Amino acid sequence: MLRDRILNREAKITVMGLGYVGLPLVVEFAKAGFYAYGYEVDNSKVETLKAGRSYILDVSDDDIVSTVSKGKFHPTVDAEVIKDSDVVVICVPTPLRKTRDPDLSFIISAVQTLLPYVHRDMLIVLESTTYPGTTEELLAREIENKGLSIGKDIYVAFSPERVDPANKAYKTSDIPKVVGGVTDVCGVVAEELYKTIVPSVHRVSTARAAEMVKLLENTFRSVNIGLINEMAMICHKMDIDIWEVIDAAKTKPFGYMPFYPGPGIGGHCIPCDPLYLTWKAKMHGIEPRLVELASEINYYMPHYVVDRLVDILNDHGKALSRTSVLVLGVAYKKNVSDTRESPAIEIINKLLGKKARVDFYDPYVPSIMTIKGILKGLEDISDLSRYDCCLIATDHDGIDYEKIIKSIEIVFDTRGRLRKEEVYSL
Ligand SMILES: NC(=O)c1ccc[n+]([C@@H]2O[C@H](COP(=O)([O-])OP(=O)(O)OC[C@H]3O[C@@H](n4cnc5c(N)ncnc54)[C@H](O)[C@@H]3O)[C@@H](O)[C@H]2O)c1
Repeated sequence: MLRDRILNREAKITVMGLGYVGLPLVVEFAKAGFYAYGYEVDNSKVETLKAGRSYILDVSDDDIVSTVSKGKFHPTVDAEVIKDSDVVVICVPTPLRKTRDPDLSFIISAVQTLLPYVHRDMLIVLESTTYPGTTEELLAREIENKGLSIGKDIYVAFSPERVDPANKAYKTSDIPKVVGGVTDVCGVVAEELYKTIVPSVHRVSTARAAEMVKLLENTFRSVNIGLINEMAMICHKMDIDIWEVIDAAKTKPFGYMPFYPGPGIGGHCIPCDPLYLTWKAKMHGIEPRLVELASEINYYMPHYVVDRLVDILNDHGKALSRTSVLVLGVAYKKNVSDTRESPAIEIINKLLGKKARVDFYDPYVPSIMTIKGILKGLEDISDLSRYDCCLIATDHDGIDYEKIIKSIEIVFDTRGRLRKEEVYSL
């Protein structure tokens, strides 16, 4: 019985997609004693793992070496391992198309890879963030077409991933899991699986509800970030310090939760997930105005930052086109290397488009792609003499901000890190 094999840690598990979500997850299963395959289409990632190195900051090399050497973690590009597995967890990307509609091609492709190997008494969980209905429509239906009955022969569930890269307080194994099965028994089996690696599991009645949980969580963040970005723009016009206002508001012990303004939103989640929700809501005849407006405000922030920079430079008698700008931090948030959807890159493209001379420094990111081609980052910030201005787009720890303030005449901090009279802030 699958449930016994899960309880006894005898089940073999394949995690499909070893990125920010899949790699920490497969390592947790391996550490919990399961025999865990990591199936990945990118051979260079598999080779890196086999060489005992991690490419995700939250997963240490030691974790890889110890789980691989104990014979618990098996990274591979061979999909046939699925045939030998009792559980499959799908962690592939769910980005947006150029038209900003959901791009489910990675899920569809993962399902096509999986289908030849599905068998009775197997649990398949989708973890990729997506709109309600995906697990049933794109996964369960395909399996049923193979003649297997969901909830009887085979179990299918959705469980949103909540990992927060670079969060030192909460790692994959500390964060409660939500699960929802396509049938009740599917949910129960998935709950038993996750109970082996996380402190608590909250089971909802359907896979669709579980899919919606993730969209609620991230839309909540998007809407609140949109609100505080709007408040920042209002405060600036009214000559009120938004950071001081937030510090004061958050002394209220109930009914308020601080969110912080910034140069825009980035990463694979907050820019994308609300648009999965709005796309599906529209198919049900709902115009999700608040959600769309928050996204619009957040997408506007890089333009706002560039406009503000132009004004700041004007006040100093400088034109952007004759200015040397150092952009500090290009990852989408501090202490990570992920540049997906990063507002810093949008800002750099706008500055380059307006003929500014732009360099960047980011200890986590060696180079980025811009409208002018590949831009290599500075290796260090020992010589700052050539810059008229520094724009702090991402406030990584471990940077000598004092030196920057002393060396560069104009510093514009979009993250509220410095909070000093001589530094411009949002
Ligand atoms: N990054 C986060 O912080 C985060 C947090 C919560 C949820 N999520 C969600 O988790 C999902 C995965 O995100 P991620 O950040 O880990 O993405 P990622 O790009 O870091 O990793 C996905 C991996 O899947 C691989 N892949 C693509 N197609 C594949 C296939 N058919 N079979 C096997 N491997 C395949 C890719 O090569 C890549 O290594 C997304 O739906 C995302 O929205 C991400």
